[in-house]
Amino acid sequence: MEKLIIKGGNKLHGTVNISGFKNSAVAIIPATVLAGDTCVIDNLPQISDVKILADLLSSLGADVKNSEPNMLKINTSKMRECYADYEMAKELRASYYLLGAALGRFKKAKVAYPGGCSIGNRPIDQHIKGFEALGADVNIEHGIISVEAEKLTGAEIYLDVVSVGATINIMLAAVMAEGTTIIENAAKEPHIVDIANYLNCMGADVRGAGTDVIKIRGVNKLGGCSHTVIPDQIEAGTYMIAAAAAGGDVLIDNIIPKHLEAVIAKLKETGVQVIEGGESLRIISSGDLKSVSIKTLVYPGFPTDLQQPMSSLLTTAKGTGIVTETIFDRRFKHIDELKRMGANIKVEGRVAVIHGVEKLTGAEVVASDLRAGASLVVAALMAEGETEIENIQFIDRGYAQLEQKLLNLGADIRRE
Ligand code: EPZ
Repeated sequence: MEKLIIKGGNKLHGTVNISGFKNSAVAIIPATVLAGDTCVIDNLPQISDVKILADLLSSLGADVKNSEPNMLKINTSKMRECYADYEMAKELRASYYLLGAALGRFKKAKVAYPGGCSIGNRPIDQHIKGFEALGADVNIEHGIISVEAEKLTGAEIYLDVVSVGATINIMLAAVMAEGTTIIENAAKEPHIVDIANYLNCMGADVRGAGTDVIKIRGVNKLGGCSHTVIPDQIEAGTYMIAAAAAGGDVLIDNIIPKHLEAVIAKLKETGVQVIEGGESLRIISSGDLKSVSIKTLVYPGFPTDLQQPMSSLLTTAKGTGIVTETIFDRRFKHIDELKRMGANIKVEGRVAVIHGVEKLTGAEVVASDLRAGASLVVAALMAEGETEIENIQFIDRGYAQLEQKLLNLGADIRRE
């Protein structure tokens, strides 16, 4: 298995260009099933999740062309049904968006229970509640989720918990339902807006995305369109945290700063200078930081996907930081690995108490999931000596050209 070798201590300088947003891309690609026509999706990140979904759609009968490095041309007109078995679906969580898209177009779908990062209990009861409210029958047998409907009728759906996945999946199923669907207590993440814009570009009528009430007026048919994926604010936040932790002067380019307000505020509290540009953020850091506390919340709060990289920054900040993870119930698997590098952390349930230490030292560590892997990269950049990170296939799911981007910033990193 490949691993990353990082020699810590270098300050980071230069510019990093942020790629398209993984969590938007992995919803937009399955959503092309709704078009039954040709869609051109641009600014896709070159990550394994995008490749897996492209291959999955091809195996289901779509015509998928990788016309340019960051672009897919997808024609789903020949598709007549959607059956994604375990082999296909287990690779990533986003395979479950095929349920909403295929239910919306074919009024039926079968998708094996999704995979995805093991960061705690990840039920899909709200997705099912939404599909059933629209008139679908949902059965789960032998690990396969089957959805089927004579017809789909608009409904008022109140999410018991703010769920990004459920909000998106219900939108996908509702755009061609008869009548109006209202999703209350909807997620407001930037990619919910991105996906709504994409659906409207195909001819849907989705309003209110980005607020907690989304109204969808069903239409009879959707068509092809072109769409450019928004920048990945989680990738951007990861590089902001890495620059703050390692120290230096880094320009994070091709982003929407508004999507990162919670992260900007937190980093400023640690003593880092953040200079906002129209489509960029400049991070200037001495590397000597004050400790802060973070509590993960749904957007626009501090994002749970940056809790793990931020925990690494706090291991050598001055003082004690309290990290509270309110979204997932087991998202601290990176902590044991940070302790192997000398961190002083105590975990109680959903709270990690991080006492800043003088320095971390390089060690052999293992990534348990995508953002845990990112947190180990941040720690390795700060640590004295060499760190070997195993299981980097998790990191490759969500960070395009990671080594190249870090090498360009002056990091000492190689893949073996
Ligand atoms: C998406 O996961 C992202 N994944 C996650 O990013 C991200 O951490 C998460 O949203 C929160 O922002 C993708 O977009 C592919 P949720 P998702 O449904 O949709 C509970 C990464 O690192 N819940 O918003 O699965 C759930 O258990 C990944 O890029 C239910 O109870 O997250 C959790 O506690 C990791 N019932 C909370 O809601 C449901 O039916 C939020 O989950 C659905 C969710």
